[in-house]
Amino acid sequence: MKINGVPYRTIWPAADGRAVEIIDQTRLPHAFAVVSLHTLADAAYAIRAMLVRGAPLIGATAAYGMALAMAEDASDAALDDAYDRLLETRPTAVNLRWALERMRAHLAPLPPSSRVGAAYAEAAAVADEDVAINRAIGEHGARLIQAIAARKPGQVVNVLTHCNAGWLATVDWGTALAPVYVAAEQGVPLHVWVDETRPRNQGASLTAWELNSHGIPHTVVVDNVGGHLMQHGQVDLCIVGTDRTTATGDVCNKIGTYLKALAAHDNGVPFYVGLPSPTIDWRISDGVREIPIEERDAAEVTDMTGRTADGRIETVRITPAGSGAVNYGFDVTPARLVTGLITERGVCPANRDGLLGLFPERR
Ligand code: MRU
Repeated sequence: MKINGVPYRTIWPAADGRAVEIIDQTRLPHAFAVVSLHTLADAAYAIRAMLVRGAPLIGATAAYGMALAMAEDASDAALDDAYDRLLETRPTAVNLRWALERMRAHLAPLPPSSRVGAAYAEAAAVADEDVAINRAIGEHGARLIQAIAARKPGQVVNVLTHCNAGWLATVDWGTALAPVYVAAEQGVPLHVWVDETRPRNQGASLTAWELNSHGIPHTVVVDNVGGHLMQHGQVDLCIVGTDRTTATGDVCNKIGTYLKALAAHDNGVPFYVGLPSPTIDWRISDGVREIPIEERDAAEVTDMTGRTADGRIETVRITPAGSGAVNYGFDVTPARLVTGLITERGVCPANRDGLLGLFPERR
């Protein structure tokens, strides 16, 4: 995707061939800053502190983190240590484990002397595959948007999304937003309702920023507005991303997604999930009971950060000093509330048969 006309991915190898560069997403939308990762510790910090975030980008960063680790020490012990240290950075997005398992399986059989080059090449393959997968999700999802556009000729198609499952959450294109970008490319008139997504405000800060960069009409709404919009016919479809989807189609995504799915169900609004296959956890079938839900610092709830009129970035407390707060990062939307899963191989019902129909090798 382009920033001020310059094409970027969200992660790329630095010119020295050793460091890895990322966009520091904690500084958006107020500053566009590129940060270099030089070590395994840098990569682990970038994931934990959410300089990078979004399931596919977490996976790609972990893959490059393994390469950085091998450049420091390519021994068997260092390989295992890098796997463990990266795996503990964030618990919910399964792409992290997927990428680490892929990297370890690729590197472990090699002699340490071959591991550095192989690790960078495999991390680059993970990143390239993510781009191709997301573009395919975009093509499949755009057909759904086109079908809605055909039913209301000359009118704008209104999409509601939650959190940021766009370009910034992946290496390129996005998952939930890829269909929006492809449909816009095809000339469909679109408007996106952007849930602000408290407490980290990925919608207000990141989705709004990237839609702005790409000239897609959009409106930021507080998290509680979606139900009202749906009751008044102002949402044609919801598309969200996912951090982990069970083999039965339960979808774990940013906290608040479940409530949007309930509202969509009550109002007959289609509720789709864009997901790359590495986000499917084939080992589990009950999302509510089996997916670990990240619990983050309560300060993300009690405090808010923003830009003052004179350009300073300030953090302010919004709750009374004596009030506690809890900060669950994700919730699970049961498969019965999901209209369809948009994968790189096509759109399927959110159930085991639907997923196995597209991924028969998992039978
Ligand atoms: O905590 P984050 O920002 O890493 O969570 C990301 C999400 O939950 C996104 O909504 C997304 O759908 C999953 S990644 C495409």
